[in-house]
Amino acid sequence: MTSPAVRPTPYQLRTPRLLLRCVSPSDAEARKEAFDSSGTHLDHLFPPPPEGRLTLDAHAAILRRYRGSFDLDQDRFYGAFDPTTGKLLGETGVLRRAGIRALELSYWLRRDAVGQGYAVEMARAMMKVAFVFDQATRMDLTCDVANTQSAGVAHRLGFTLEGRLRDRQLAPHHKRGDILCFTLLDTEYAKEPAHHLPIEAFDLLGRRID
Ligand SMILES: CC(C)(COP(=O)(O)OP(=O)(O)OC[C@H]1O[C@@H](n2cnc3c(N)ncnc32)[C@H](O)[C@@H]1OP(=O)(O)O)[C@@H](O)C(=O)NCCC(=O)NCCS
Repeated sequence: MTSPAVRPTPYQLRTPRLLLRCVSPSDAEARKEAFDSSGTHLDHLFPPPPEGRLTLDAHAAILRRYRGSFDLDQDRFYGAFDPTTGKLLGETGVLRRAGIRALELSYWLRRDAVGQGYAVEMARAMMKVAFVFDQATRMDLTCDVANTQSAGVAHRLGFTLEGRLRDRQLAPHHKRGDILCFTLLDTEYAKEPAHHLPIEAFDLLGRRID
């Protein structure tokens, strides 16, 4: 069996309302502001340290790790910015832990960006990354069984609920427990026109690649 031709990695994407780009440590202040202004909204996903909120240095360290991982084509996280104001609205990404020719979708929004359809918009950009550029055949979306807002995103995107996985902990900072696993296949992506938003993709030198 021949492998599909390797396509360039998108470093930046433009959707109708968002600029998505590879994060870097220089986004630490914007990330801290997004977390700090969100109250407890993100605590279930990123439990705060016992001493309180994450410091600027802690955000910079996380972003440094994200940047390194992105450049090595491992897990790839994108900051989602308002293209006019430059405000960081959230993050989205594709994770490798789903296995070969599969990627897991991840996303979060700052509290005041929820309820405007941004999660679905950034997820659709990640679907293009996964199915068009990485040529994945499956995308996974997992969430805590109590996370009805995330399950709502999965339903709006047309993902299929494959099951409730028992006693899982996918990352050290997650709470252990049951999770829901939703999936979308490349064949389902290809036949659903709603997935095909006008999304422009650019490589690491800023050249248009789609
Ligand atoms: C999960 C999360 C990203 C969902 O965000 P969201 O804004 O509800 O998701 P969507 O982008 O699908 O937005 C849908 C809502 O926007 C509304 N909306 C407003 N304008 C819209 C537009 N132009 N287009 C689409 N929807 C729009 C929809 O009506 C819907 O509102 P409703 O929830 O009251 O029915 C958010 O709750 C979050 O960041 N949670 C914390 C982090 C987290 O749990 N991440 C997931 C881990 S698995």
